Amino acid sequence: MSHVKNILVTGAAGYIGGSILADFLSRPDLLAPAKLHAVVRSEEQLQALSKLNVSVLNFELDDSAAVAAAVDQNQIDLIIHAANSSDTLIVTNLVEALGRRRSTTGKPVFFIHSSVTTLFSEEAGWPHGMLKDTESIYEKEKELGSSHPVLQTNLLVVEKAQECGVKCFNVVVPNVYGRGKGEWRKVSILIPALIQASIRLEKVHKFDVDGHPPAAHISDLVALYRILVHKILENEDIPSGKDGYYFAMAHRAPWWAYMRAIAQSLHARGLVADPEVELWPSDEAAAKALKFPVQFIRAMGTASGGLEPVNARQLGWQPIWDERRFLESTDEEVQAVLDLDTIRTGIFDKLMQPATD
Ligand SMILES: NC(=O)c1ccc[n+]([C@@H]2O[C@H](COP(=O)([O-])OP(=O)(O)OC[C@H]3O[C@@H](n4cnc5c(N)ncnc54)[C@H](OP(=O)(O)O)[C@@H]3O)[C@@H](O)[C@H]2O)c1
Repeated sequence: MSHVKNILVTGAAGYIGGSILADFLSRPDLLAPAKLHAVVRSEEQLQALSKLNVSVLNFELDDSAAVAAAVDQNQIDLIIHAANSSDTLIVTNLVEALGRRRSTTGKPVFFIHSSVTTLFSEEAGWPHGMLKDTESIYEKEKELGSSHPVLQTNLLVVEKAQECGVKCFNVVVPNVYGRGKGEWRKVSILIPALIQASIRLEKVHKFDVDGHPPAAHISDLVALYRILVHKILENEDIPSGKDGYYFAMAHRAPWWAYMRAIAQSLHARGLVADPEVELWPSDEAAAKALKFPVQFIRAMGTASGGLEPVNARQLGWQPIWDERRFLESTDEEVQAVLDLDTIRTGIFDKLMQPATD
């Protein structure tokens, strides 16, 4: 049995982190006897999560002293980082804190990072085409020498973990959809933004290129984190470090077909004037309407990328949702946005700052 007695989930008030937490809490046998700790960063979030059977910690992850204290005082040996994919300071704080814990106890410590599949697309500057997650991703990222913040963070995860003696894993997250099960933010990022922008503009738009990016339903994504944690707690030797990339791709999301389905759903609800989909007048207009950084909008809206999830499948990950179910669930997604999209995501705040300074 594993020595891990305490697991920390960052981004626990967020869509993915909150859903991971809810899933783990619904399966106490999975973690026993390990205990869950959740990081939030406001009093309201703390209140919202306080009814759960977890210890809720309220601090900023960029505060290295606060991270060190939380890991040390709560004897954390495994961190699931679902707060931010592109912040190197946060990764440094978390991995260094785990490294100190390892030095103190002499026992293995583990870090599960959450990254972004869009990075591995031509539109984001990735030159390698079709790619399996078993194909030296770290080395390819290193060779590319790009300043993309997600790539820089991926590299740091491997290098900092190696330096600190931490076993690391990188779940590379695609476009996620479906109702989240967390206590605070319950919807995803891109699809809700597309639906909200359509309602505001009373018109559904699509990009001039029909992207087919990787996608996964939130329940399937969470299942992959569950499998990883289970294997870690069972002391199974699974790919980690430079080899520890897990593409969490369940299927593809055909954007033009999806935008057509959104238009039909919104039209039937009287939320857009007609069911036709128009092209965005420009990438700048799309970025402004969706409230995303313009430098990433092309990759977010038009990329397909050629990913093959070998590592996750080898762990036994079998997603239940496929492209057909994804398309058929469009109306449910619209309803989820209308019901639940009340809390904005802050994940682009730092990236948007340079443009507005
Ligand atoms: N959703 C997707 O489709 C998708 C796809 C690919 C990759 N990802 C990546 O997965 C990660 C999580 O996504 P998500 O959809 O769950 O986003 P989310 O709902 O915005 O959740 C992120 C959570 O992390 C918290 N957080 C961020 N910075 C923090 C800090 N410095 N200290 C403490 N807490 C902090 C946020 O707090 P606040 O609520 O106070 O801002 C929020 O509760 C992101 O990095 C995202 O880029 C997501």
